[in-house]
Amino acid sequence: MPTLLLIYNTKTGNTELMAKAVEEGAKTAKGLAIILNYRATPLQLRDADAVIIGVPTYNHHMTLDIQSLLEKAAAAEVILEDKPAAAFGSYGWSGEAPKEVLEILQNKFKMRIIEPVVLAKYKPDQKALEDCRELGKKVAEAVL
Ligand SMILES: Cc1cc2nc3c(=O)[nH]c(=O)nc-3n(C[C@H](O)[C@H](O)[C@H](O)COP(=O)(O)O)c2cc1C
Repeated sequence: MPTLLLIYNTKTGNTELMAKAVEEGAKTAKGLAIILNYRATPLQLRDADAVIIGVPTYNHHMTLDIQSLLEKAAAAEVILEDKPAAAFGSYGWSGEAPKEVLEILQNKFKMRIIEPVVLAKYKPDQKALEDCRELGKKVAEAVL
């Protein structure tokens, strides 16, 4: 069964609410195993058929956990070419992190980016959660 790896970081829970909505959306497509986790290893990235990363913006950047994962995956020369990838995250005023992550997934790992990036200002409202569900569904459909 194909696997969707959904990794997210959160400090105050906002990106976690989004991650659960993305998972809900992805689950509407049958025949896909979804791994939802706070952390992942480069090997899990390698073994996944699609990757979605949820990351809040702190100090204008992605979190250190996600940065470290991408650096380790690059060092291990993990091949992710053409796998569907997407990103989302909560932010307060600038919201760079999900776009930074996608830039790396696209340019370094040559992944197939599924848009749009979903951003939620602080706690996601119903519209943001709906957009998250849509994103999850879209990535799942891109795998199947
Ligand atoms: C110390 C600190 C630094 C932050 N830096 C930024 C920032 O540079 N840009 C931004 O858009 N939001 C920034 N934020 C706001 C967070 O992104 C926002 O609170 C978000 O909802 C956190 O998501 P989380 O609950 O998933 O951790 C910052 C918040 C804190 C506490």
